[in-house]
Amino acid sequence: MNVLVIGSGGREHALVWKISQSPKVDKIFCAPGNAGINQLAECVNIKADDLDGLLEFALQNQIDLTVVGPEVPLTLGIVDKFQAKGLKIFGPSGKAAEIEGSKTFAKDLMAKYHIPTAKYGAFTDAAKAKAFLQEVGLPCVVKADGLAAGKGVLICETSAEAESAIDDILVDNKFGDAGGRVVVEEFLTGQEVSMLAFTDGKTVVPMVSSQDHKRIWDGDRGLNTGGMGAYSPAPVYTDAINAIVVPQVLEATIAAMRAEGRPFAGILYAGLMLTDDGPKVLEFNARFGDPETQAVLPRLKSDLVDIFLAIIDGRLDEMTIEWHEEAAVCVVMASGGYPESSDKGREITGMEEASATGAIVFHAGTKEADGKIVTNGGRVLGISALGKDIAQAIANAYQGVEKIKFENMQYRTDIGKKAFL
Ligand code: AMP
Ligand code: GLY
Repeated sequence: MNVLVIGSGGREHALVWKISQSPKVDKIFCAPGNAGINQLAECVNIKADDLDGLLEFALQNQIDLTVVGPEVPLTLGIVDKFQAKGLKIFGPSGKAAEIEGSKTFAKDLMAKYHIPTAKYGAFTDAAKAKAFLQEVGLPCVVKADGLAAGKGVLICETSAEAESAIDDILVDNKFGDAGGRVVVEEFLTGQEVSMLAFTDGKTVVPMVSSQDHKRIWDGDRGLNTGGMGAYSPAPVYTDAINAIVVPQVLEATIAAMRAEGRPFAGILYAGLMLTDDGPKVLEFNARFGDPETQAVLPRLKSDLVDIFLAIIDGRLDEMTIEWHEEAAVCVVMASGGYPESSDKGREITGMEEASATGAIVFHAGTKEADGKIVTNGGRVLGISALGKDIAQAIANAYQGVEKIKFENMQYRTDIGKKAFL
């Protein structure tokens, strides 16, 4: 088979790495890819949101399966476009991806089908949004409706902050089209867990649990990022919690999407807060998480391509999906200035030595320049390792991290420690 993977981050490197282990696969292309993906796949210079360019490439290169990493092409309807030409593609339709593309849609769906989530209101009018602040109390959370690359969520401690967040989104259009609507939400406390599930729109098969680390600095301090590391499993996500989440969140949401005429096939990612009142949904994503994927896929024993094909054909109920018992940890190494600015072009050394320790070096923001691998801004690498338990996986991942050097690198030294709280 010829497989095309769309995207260029650590998540896509992990997907390409796992797909390359399938005996069914002859050749992998990745658009646009990065310097690490280039070692396993042929990178083609087409951007992830260039739907026409990607379709033309797939048709011309006899692509048997396309796998979409990021949310933007999904919400733009890449799956519908490929399917209309008879191409096999893994991911939800544009209408189904709205569960990530519009927070209002996701919240209204949860309210209608009694899926546990924070109390909220959705508004296009700033005065009405401000009036609603009374009802949710403080602190509260103000969110731009659309896709904002993780930046459209503002946690507000005071009414003044919340009012100015509402104005930023609705009046000053700080988030462009994503901010045509605002969601004002009750603030929830607890531990966050990411639960990703495979689904063909009928059957739901949860993956193993994981936890992201969103803040830039140790101890969950500093600015929010795309994610500075992840580990799996998350011990706070117990069997008792799973027994609530699977029927009341994952299966209920897939049934709701079907009932709404938006059958969802692909990866449903539920970002959960484990509150004292039980698990509640913070957000849904319509794709694999980044960096969760770099901790979850190393634990997957089954052939990922078989799973993708079963989902596309609507026969996930026939699949047995197996996982390794070992834990996994992924430590992200980011460029200087991230997440506010992006330092680029620094030579990266020590990657072979890191791999020699048994760690897996996933590339995110890297590229080749003059025969060297250099940083390309943002999150640069994700160093993943398995271990007999989380403590061992942490030790193994950091053994890999220590071999790697590039100027101004930043990484957290406490990835996975939350597992022991
Ligand atoms: P989201 O993109 O909706 O997941 O929000 C990004 C991050 O903001 C989440 O991972 C949480 O850390 C935080 N967050 C979102 N909604 C809430 C909420 N209702 N209460 C507390 N924190 C939240
Ligand atoms: N790790 C958060 C996300 O993928 O959205």
